[in-house]
Amino acid sequence: MPSFVVATQPRSYPVLVAPGALGALAEHLPRGAGKIFVVTTADVWELHGRRIEAPLAGRAYEVLLFPGGEERKRLAELEALAEQMATRGGDRTSVVVAFGGGIVNDLGGFLAATFMRGIPVIQAPTTLLAQVDAGVGGKTGVNLEAGKNLVGAFHQPLAVLIDPDVLATLPEREYRAGLYEVLKTGIIRSERLFRLMVEERDRILDLDPDVVPEMVAQAVAIKAEVVSADERESDLRRILNFGHTLGHALEAETGYARLLHGEAVAYGMRAATHLAHRAGYLAGADRDEILRAITLYGPIPSLGGISAANLVARLVRDKKTVHGRIHFVLPVRIGEVKVVSGLDEALVLEAAQAALDELAAA
Ligand code: GLY
Repeated sequence: MPSFVVATQPRSYPVLVAPGALGALAEHLPRGAGKIFVVTTADVWELHGRRIEAPLAGRAYEVLLFPGGEERKRLAELEALAEQMATRGGDRTSVVVAFGGGIVNDLGGFLAATFMRGIPVIQAPTTLLAQVDAGVGGKTGVNLEAGKNLVGAFHQPLAVLIDPDVLATLPEREYRAGLYEVLKTGIIRSERLFRLMVEERDRILDLDPDVVPEMVAQAVAIKAEVVSADERESDLRRILNFGHTLGHALEAETGYARLLHGEAVAYGMRAATHLAHRAGYLAGADRDEILRAITLYGPIPSLGGISAANLVARLVRDKKTVHGRIHFVLPVRIGEVKVVSGLDEALVLEAAQAALDELAAA
């Protein structure tokens, strides 16, 4: 089974990528584990619950259903889940299994980070976005009115179990939203992955089993390498935020309701690519190639009626803004990015507007 190691100071843990990976769940539970709490959504449980039930047979476990939705990734939901754990036999020996998409991985991970001051979590991501990004690397948290993921904790899991077979039931739009995160990984760190996504676009969209697990594995390998080098995002890990600076602003501006996270990142990657070129970091040919590749996995919902000025105004409240300086991750060529701050706000506004104009009529 392809397996990658995330080596961080709190712990090193495996990330398994293979059909049937969820069947290995019991092997990754600690000796003496108490009650297992599977945090999931009704749709994921209905479609894939048996993949978790089988390895947990004979163990004490409870299923906690979370309603889902970015707008529900809030402290109030966390509290409700923690209350359920406390009344249903949770204690310090309990383990959370976060079984679902990025929202469940973030919220379930944060629940584990905070319940009784911290219990273990196993991440079992079921969307492409969660498999290649949210489920790997220990970032957990919830949203505030003021912005995304503003309350949270680094809480590394015991293991991440990725079964590419579960992608077959993902709505097509969600799958494409995840593909933008894979493309992001190629643009920031791997020309090989970028080319795979450009050349094999049709097979990837068709979920070809000869291509998709390989694509997921390449993306996971990069995520594991980056997190191992810089768990706390003081340096290299910041490159994973390519497209997220303006992407987060767009999600907040649209009330977390109009776009999926990956779609907002697609917008943010377009804007950052324009910005990189306008600021003199990226050649025109590479800019065009990156924009074309993003378009290959479109369209995203129309962005008509959004104000670029409002998006830029939101950037100062983002976690990536340090001492009032906005940091951007900008491509310098395909497979390499640079973290840049102190850019002229007029340039940022122009780039944000250029990407909005391209997508206004989509
Ligand atoms: N999603 C970005 C990171 O894990 O750092």
